[in-house]
Amino acid sequence: MTLPALPTARLGTDGPLVGVQGLGCMGMSEFYGPTDTAEALATLDAALETGVTLFDTADAYGFGRNEELIGPFVRANRERVVLATKFAIERKEDDPNLRGIRNDPAYIRAAVDASLRRLGVDVIDLYYMHRRDPAVPLAESVGAMAELVQAGKVRHLGLSEVTGAELREAHAIHPIAAVQSEWSVFARDVERSAVPAAAGLGVAFVPYSPLGRGFLTGAFQAAEQLATDDVRRTQPRFTGANAEANGGLLEPIRQIATARGVTLAQVALAWVHQRAQVHGLTVVPIPGTRKRSRLAENTAAATLELTAEELALLEPVAGQVAGDRYPNMAFTQVGRE
Ligand SMILES: NC(=O)c1ccc[n+]([C@@H]2O[C@H](COP(=O)([O-])OP(=O)(O)OC[C@H]3O[C@@H](n4cnc5c(N)ncnc54)[C@H](OP(=O)(O)O)[C@@H]3O)[C@@H](O)[C@H]2O)c1
Repeated sequence: MTLPALPTARLGTDGPLVGVQGLGCMGMSEFYGPTDTAEALATLDAALETGVTLFDTADAYGFGRNEELIGPFVRANRERVVLATKFAIERKEDDPNLRGIRNDPAYIRAAVDASLRRLGVDVIDLYYMHRRDPAVPLAESVGAMAELVQAGKVRHLGLSEVTGAELREAHAIHPIAAVQSEWSVFARDVERSAVPAAAGLGVAFVPYSPLGRGFLTGAFQAAEQLATDDVRRTQPRFTGANAEANGGLLEPIRQIATARGVTLAQVALAWVHQRAQVHGLTVVPIPGTRKRSRLAENTAAATLELTAEELALLEPVAGQVAGDRYPNMAFTQVGRE
C-alpha cells in the first residue's frame, strides 16, 4: 500500500504529536456486528504503517475486552502508539442493562488501575472522562484525574461529551489535551459551545463517529439490515422513517463523491477536517474500522480538499437530520447545554 504521509497534529498545547487521523477500535469488540479478530489485529498494524498513531479504546467497550484486544499491539509498538482510553461508563457483564455514569474519585482511581492491567502497560497517554455525571463537582473528578498524571499512570487528560463551560472549568483545574465528541456532516451540535471553547483554549478536538457510525458511507440504509445485537438498531436516526429520510440527505455527499471520483466516506472525513479549519482548531478524527481494506481510503481523506461550493452543498445537511444521536440525549453535552 503506497500512501502519502499522514500529516501530524499536536493534542493540546503540550500533548503528543499524532497522525491527523486516528483509529477507533470500539467496533473490534462490540456494537457493530460480528468481528474477525485476526483481521482486526492486522488492521491495527496496518494503521500504524499508514501513519495513524492515535488508537482509541475505552474500558466500557466489550466490558474491557477491547483494551485486552489491543494491549499486545500497544506493547509491541509502545514508542509509536499514542494510547487513548476512557473511564466513567460503568458496565457489568452479568447485568447488561446497567449503564451507570461514575465520576467520583474512588471510582476513577480503581478504573485506571483496571485499564492499565487489561492493557498491560504502565502508563496511558490520554485518559478521557467518557461521560459527565453533573452530580459530582468537576473539581473532584478532574482533580482525581490530575493526581493520576502526578502519579505517572496517565500522561494527558481528555473529556468526552462535555459542554464548553465544563471544558473551561476543567481546563482551569488541569490542562485538557483533547475533547472527544461526536462530530460529522450529520452531527454538529458540538459546534454550539464545545468546539468554540476548545478553539479558544488550544484544546484539540477528536471527532468520534465521523462517518456517522457508517451511515454516511452508504454502507447500510437502515438499522433493520444490521445484526440483531448491533447498537445502531437502538439509535433513532437509523431506524424506521428517520432512516429513510436521512438516506435522502446523503445525496449531496454522493454528488460530490461521484464528481471527484472519491468515496462517500472520504467526503465525510474531509468535511470534518475542513470544518475544523473554519473554527480554527486542531482535529484528529478517529474513524472506526475493523478492516485493512478501509485504511488507504480513510487515510487519503485527511488530505482531500473540498471546494467552497462543495462545502456549501454540505452545510444544510445536519440541520435536516431526523432523530437524535442517542435514545437518551441527557447523557450527552446537549442535555446540559
Ligand atoms: N467518546 C464516545 O462516547 C464515543 C462514542 C462512539 C465511538 N467512539 C470512538 O470513536 C470511534 C469511531 O466511531 P464509530 O466507530 O462509532 O463510527 P464511525 O467511525 O463514524 O463509523 C464506523 C463504521 O463505519 C464503517 N466504515 C469505516 N470506514 C469505512 C469506509 N471507508 N467505507 C465504508 N464503511 C466504513 C465501519 O465498518 P467496518 O469496521 O466494517 O469497516 C463501522 O461500521 C470508535 O471506534 C470509538 O473508539 C467514542
